[in-house]
Amino acid sequence: VMATAGTTSSGAVDPLRAVGEICREHGVWFHVDAAWAGTAALLPETRWVLDGAELADSVVFNPHKWMMTNFDCSAYFVRDPGTLIRTFEIHPEYLKTGVDAKVKNYRDWGIQLGRRFRALKLWFVVRSYGVEGLQALVREHIRLAGLVKGWVEADGRFELLAPVDLALVCFRLNDGRDEAGLDQLNRRFLERINASGTVFLTHTTLRGRYTIRLVVGQRTTEERHVRSAWDVISAAAAEVLKD
Ligand SMILES: Cc1ncc(COP(=O)(O)O)c(C=O)c1O
Repeated sequence: VMATAGTTSSGAVDPLRAVGEICREHGVWFHVDAAWAGTAALLPETRWVLDGAELADSVVFNPHKWMMTNFDCSAYFVRDPGTLIRTFEIHPEYLKTGVDAKVKNYRDWGIQLGRRFRALKLWFVVRSYGVEGLQALVREHIRLAGLVKGWVEADGRFELLAPVDLALVCFRLNDGRDEAGLDQLNRRFLERINASGTVFLTHTTLRGRYTIRLVVGQRTTEERHVRSAWDVISAAAAEVLKD
């Protein structure tokens, strides 16, 4: 069973503890996908995103998504490495060494044999920012997304389509036309925003509704960038609403 802490579309967090307890009861492998939102567990105030993950058999989060680490770097935690090793280990004669029993051979934990030393760059990230430096960045991203949320709520042309718990804001234009019309309107709206060449937003569908996504997560993003992104969004909204 796989639960997601921070879905790709809307950042929704599954009830990990409740799912985990059911999995425990039935002896089912419980995997937690915290690819994006796992980074929020750096902060005491958002550590709840992983509440219940201690019941998991495996947890993944991607430092390359929100933890200032260059692509690619996924951190995989597994309760019982033996399960992986029994699945993936290979013992050709030429790979045998005198220390096999004493070391962790990560080649036996997955499909790849040859692999890059990705943990090294993660080590550098943690050493160069420090835990407090990383916390400050993530906290600021959440604050900036909160500003956008406030602007969406304060402007009657827009509506929020999902709660903003972390640094992802899902919204659309809504001028009261029917749902098919709103989908078309918002598709044109997003094209207009992205045609500006200064802001690039993505979309998804939430409950069948065409939804625009704004996420804050870069090391260099400051309030002035988010404010100017909002200016672009607001101007594009005015244009598509009068078309
Ligand atoms: C929740 C979640 N899980 C998994 C992935 C896959 O990430 P990757 O292929 O970079 O490991 C994504 C990517 O957006 C994601 O949002």
